[in-house]
Amino acid sequence: MDFERRRIEAQWIAAEYRQRARAKWSLRKLKKVGARPIVLGRATIDASDLEVGDDFKVWSGHRRTLVSGWGRMRIGDRVFLNAGSVVISVLEITIGDDVALASDVYVIDSNSHGVEGRPHVEAPVRIGDGTWVGARAMILPGVTIGKRVVVAAGSVVTRDVPDDSLVAGNPARLIRTLDYPAGCRRAWHDEFGCPCPKLALAEEDEEIAPEEIA
Ligand SMILES: CC(C)(COP(=O)(O)OP(=O)(O)OC[C@H]1O[C@@H](n2cnc3c(N)ncnc32)[C@H](O)[C@@H]1OP(=O)(O)O)[C@@H](O)C(=O)NCCC(=O)NCCS
Repeated sequence: MDFERRRIEAQWIAAEYRQRARAKWSLRKLKKVGARPIVLGRATIDASDLEVGDDFKVWSGHRRTLVSGWGRMRIGDRVFLNAGSVVISVLEITIGDDVALASDVYVIDSNSHGVEGRPHVEAPVRIGDGTWVGARAMILPGVTIGKRVVVAAGSVVTRDVPDDSLVAGNPARLIRTLDYPAGCRRAWHDEFGCPCPKLALAEEDEEIAPEEIA
């Protein structure tokens, strides 16, 4: 079982190397691209005012990932967009460092249509450093999400979310405040490229007591 898992992980890593070449083509329309981008599959990334940081990683598998629009879009370092994510900007979308959007996440800064004869809403969206947006969540125009937030799967975020919190539901409500170990920079933690080196080390070496991590 463990061997099988390792074999599949090795295949994934090999695929990542192959797709570094694809990233050059897929990201050719961007204003600025940082170091070591990865694009797995056929993403459509044609936003006209988009800058992304280092280690930008996009998967586009069972559904095509789409990053589009003429708005100002700024994406930080080590950001991951999973398959089927849709990010469309006509005004301004800012995504911080170490953010992950899971499969089929929707981020928009315009409602595109007005209601009751009112003009349609267009307002900037901000997603703070280290935030993890769960599968099929939606982030609506005008929302600012803080740092190291977890947005639970399927949530519809209509209002601002404070730092270090878990929100869930439609409309998304605060479930609880999150308490991270010292040095932890992102809400989503795994063994692949986690930017919290002391935490990763501590996992490998059980000799390190939790109080030594700070
Ligand atoms: C949020 C999540 C990570 C669970 O975190 P957790 O700290 O273990 O939270 P819990 O399971 O203890 O749930 C806390 C409360 O939130 C509720 N909740 C959790 N996820 C929810 C969701 N998606 N929608 C609505 N409510 C949710 C639980 O029912 C629970 O409510 P209760 O206190 O009334 O019983 C998980 O539910 C989730 O949404 N994962 C997303 C996974 C994903 O998208 N992966 C993609 C891979 S990139």
